[in-house]
Amino acid sequence: MAKRWTNDLTHADVTPHRAYLNRRQLIGGLAGAGLASALGTSTQAASNLKPNDWETITSYNNFYEFGTGKDDPRKHAHRLTTDPWSIRIDGMVEKPGDYALGDILSKMTIEERIYRFRCVEAWSMVVPWNGFELADLLQMAGVKEGAKYVAFETLVRPEEMIGQQYPVLKWPYVEGLRLDEAMHPLTLMATGIYGKPIPNQNGAPIRLVVPWKYGFKSIKSIVRITLTDKEPPTSWNTAIGSEYGFYSNVNPTVDHPRWSQATERTIGGGLFAKRQPTLMFNGYESDVASLYEGMDLRRNY
Ligand code: MTE
Repeated sequence: MAKRWTNDLTHADVTPHRAYLNRRQLIGGLAGAGLASALGTSTQAASNLKPNDWETITSYNNFYEFGTGKDDPRKHAHRLTTDPWSIRIDGMVEKPGDYALGDILSKMTIEERIYRFRCVEAWSMVVPWNGFELADLLQMAGVKEGAKYVAFETLVRPEEMIGQQYPVLKWPYVEGLRLDEAMHPLTLMATGIYGKPIPNQNGAPIRLVVPWKYGFKSIKSIVRITLTDKEPPTSWNTAIGSEYGFYSNVNPTVDHPRWSQATERTIGGGLFAKRQPTLMFNGYESDVASLYEGMDLRRNY
């Protein structure tokens, strides 16, 4: 029977990694083999990572719709109603429409992915996400020829998202990816953490996770996905374009204008923990560097 979204995801719903690889290898051919080996590398890297605990992951958040302080999202996000939820998929797709989240999830393979998460503010965490590949969702909607980018939009509901009562950013929060970044097997639509439904402060009921980019690219509480042939606007680029570019790939050699990106503070490592060197593409270089071949990553920051 098809699995329905019941908002009570447990570990039993999570596809074991080996089953996932088998599924991918079944795709067969060069592309399938490529995807499987790409995932193999990053999973090795991830398995050496110790995930942060639930308390840390859910209490130190950026989610400006609920305020600008790190503890505001946990204080205020409980007001958000996340059921029912649907996502409008439109633009250059074969099957545009409003998709109920439950219907989407009944067609997706949910699995666990442990990803290093690097915030532009030079701190990092490790999070065990549950989710499905964005590529699977885009394939379900059918990407039309000529589409080059994917634009994302967060819910606007100021009566529940009290930060939206202030113009700290232009609402809705928006983000974008190039189509090949969106289709990459590391790009995840997350619906859970530690096998539990994703808490509101972390972007319930569904958010993006792009582990080789700074955290702000991982847009939360998504209600719209639009396929387009033009580079879409992104919230932080619109707000402060000189500091936040469209690509926002984690890159220790390109500093933020106001601070270094060469190192990071690992949250949960204790007050006196040594700063860690930041890795190119947040440690996913072997998986994603080819996407940017020939590009000047200083200009395309
Ligand atoms: N998405 C929305 N809609 N609003 C936000 O303010 N903040 C971004 C990103 N996604 C943000 C958002 C930033 S700056 C970061 S670092 C991550 O969410 C934080 O995700 P986390 O709270 O799960 O760590």
